[in-house]
Amino acid sequence: MCGIVGYVGPKRAQDVVIDGLRRLEYRGYDSAGIAVVHEGELALAKRAGKLANLDKVLADTPLPPAHTGIGHTRWATHGRPNDVNAHPHTGGARRVALVHNGIIENFVELRSRVEADDHVFLSETDTEIVAHLVELQVQSGVDLPTAMQRVCQQLDGAFTLVAVDAEDPDRVVAARRNSPLVVGLGEGENFLGSDVAAFIEHTREALELGQDQIVTITRDEVTVSDFWGRPVEAQRFHVDWDLSAAEKDGHDWFMRKEIFEQPRAVADSLIGRRTTGGLLQLDEMRLADEEIRDLDKIIIIACGTSFYAGMVAKYAIEHWTRTPVEVELASEFRYRDPIVDATTLVVAISQSGETADTLQAIRHARSQRAKVLAICNTNGSSIPRESDAVIYTHAGPEIGVASTKGFLTQLVACYLLALYVAQVKGTRFGDEIDEIMVQLEAMPGHIETVLAQSDAVYELARAHTSTRSVLFLGRHAGYPVALEGALKLKELAYLHAEGFAAGELKHGPIALIEDGLPVLCVVPPRGRDQLHGKMLSGIQEVRARGARTICLAEEGDSTIEPYADDLVRLPRVPVLLQPLVAIVPLQLFACELATALGHDVDQPRNLAKSVTVE
Ligand code: F6R
Repeated sequence: MCGIVGYVGPKRAQDVVIDGLRRLEYRGYDSAGIAVVHEGELALAKRAGKLANLDKVLADTPLPPAHTGIGHTRWATHGRPNDVNAHPHTGGARRVALVHNGIIENFVELRSRVEADDHVFLSETDTEIVAHLVELQVQSGVDLPTAMQRVCQQLDGAFTLVAVDAEDPDRVVAARRNSPLVVGLGEGENFLGSDVAAFIEHTREALELGQDQIVTITRDEVTVSDFWGRPVEAQRFHVDWDLSAAEKDGHDWFMRKEIFEQPRAVADSLIGRRTTGGLLQLDEMRLADEEIRDLDKIIIIACGTSFYAGMVAKYAIEHWTRTPVEVELASEFRYRDPIVDATTLVVAISQSGETADTLQAIRHARSQRAKVLAICNTNGSSIPRESDAVIYTHAGPEIGVASTKGFLTQLVACYLLALYVAQVKGTRFGDEIDEIMVQLEAMPGHIETVLAQSDAVYELARAHTSTRSVLFLGRHAGYPVALEGALKLKELAYLHAEGFAAGELKHGPIALIEDGLPVLCVVPPRGRDQLHGKMLSGIQEVRARGARTICLAEEGDSTIEPYADDLVRLPRVPVLLQPLVAIVPLQLFACELATALGHDVDQPRNLAKSVTVE
């Protein structure tokens, strides 16, 4: 939530900061703002709504040609999304400007302390008090880094803060606790960003910051300390993504581009996973074979789309390893006093690596002595940093707010984890694992085959612009696909959409079926005859009550034809791997329907890409 940028260097700060915000806008778009320091004064501009609104303000009244600046794109927590609540906020004397991502939990108490001294607050935010406190500190004679340290010592909650001081024009100071912040290392210039997309155009060398750290950037120097001023060695890393990966590549939406990148993303996530001897290797595993053999339970924690990837993982892990798996919403996990100990492996799945609910859940798991393995797409983010082991997915940057290639590569990582555990525990023979790996390696080609039908799926989607409700049915590994298909439609097309396990329908939800209601059905492959037959019965039941069925069924499955009003063909793949192909038409359907309805697909209302508040 919220995107943050900071810059010091020879370029025009306004240009660098606004370009950075453009790449971070997926993190929140309730308002945007910028502050630069020029000739001992702050110049500020901010506007409610998308960055385009701020662009208009700056086109009419550009900021002075400063070389130091900070910027913010907001996902509102405290206070409505209006001009006044937009960041940056300043102290009463307009000497310090500050932007913030996160929540200051004790802001009311802090605010009442200074209100007694006649401080006037303009906004309803939890951020403004921090700007006042930092300004009070610099006015007392300390420098900006020291001021930031002293203020951070008083704050409760989650925050990334970035500040400038009008009287210290060549320095930007930032702090982080439980919210993301990375440093971009340039030549004679340095950058701050919520993630590397903020500065990827300028540099691919970066520093990751740890918890409770303060960073100061000037043109030539980056210094890191803890909240008490003790120097800290930050970890340097090279960013593999390039600028083109963060651009749209001719597509109308990042989401559509990302859907079409899925064959490559899946292939990349499979690269280098086998030794020359054919054994699976996951070198970011960092868990000893002994620890894996001793596991008696796996708990998967995640949110949203990542949670559905976890649901698919349960089918694969239990089937291939015979290890019991629980899948739990991260936001519920620590509140129910879960039974977790040193023989439990907790698997945290997160595309962004910054989801606050998941981060808090893994902290709870580790406090109970469980080992935590992260499945994550974002190098250097908090969740892998705080885990015992990590399997990185190699989806590349996911900019569209709705997760697509993030999901597919999470599935790949889950399959790899399941096979690795099977190899170590000896629950599958080597040749069985080989066979599944060969099937996995064929998936990019199968996904291409599904993508080749995109025009037909788009046509179907456009035929549903007046639909108010859509149901999704699946069984077994197709059930999470139905849930994910419904989530995509909700978040993009703002339609009522629900996913059901097909067998559960007759226990209540079938009452929802009425004439003409579209029902999307994920039909399992015929190899599992019982499953396939049961699904067919479910489809007949809804059809008999007037539903219009859109069936996703494998090539050559003629048994489905009498029951499908529309049919999308899937390649023939094993049931456990079918989610990798079955979700693709559902992503295309949601993307196209939302486009036809005139919605902003990359930035759906009320959402943010990275949910860094609980
Ligand atoms: C839906 C979507 C969200 C995320 C969820 C978890 O399209 O993107 O449901 O999946 O917020 O995010 P990560 O995976 O970053 O932890």
